[in-house]
Amino acid sequence: MNDEELLDAARTVRDMAYCPYSNFRVGAAIIDEHGNVHVGCNVENAAYPQSSCAEAGAISAMIAAGGQRIVAIAVAGGSDKIRACTPCGGCRQRINEFSDGETRIIVKDNDNEWHTYSMSELLPSSFRL
Ligand code: THU
Repeated sequence: MNDEELLDAARTVRDMAYCPYSNFRVGAAIIDEHGNVHVGCNVENAAYPQSSCAEAGAISAMIAAGGQRIVAIAVAGGSDKIRACTPCGGCRQRINEFSDGETRIIVKDNDNEWHTYSMSELLPSSFRL
């Protein structure tokens, strides 16, 4: 699966988001070390802190399926008319847990420009045990 297809998977699952409070849909698609793809969308809750991000859902799906390393994760947020949705701070830490120096974080902006980040660009000097 190439980057364009991975972003398409993120866009597709974005439509499934449950986000009646923010109306901000996010989809995430991961390709793991086995070449398997895992997707997730944001799931909000009336008790706002109980909401979960799209990246968290995709990571849970990866772990449940036996994946341990994120080769690439594509994130599609909001509508195609708004600027690129880079992962929030908490999700950067979540992605970091399963990343290495080769992991790519892929987003696409309003001008259809690709942006591919490394983990160290998004979370420099990160915490790891
Ligand atoms: N959201 C994500 O799913 N991932 C991010 O990286 C940024 C934010 C969700 C959380 C909430 O449901 C909505 O977007 C608005 O913040």
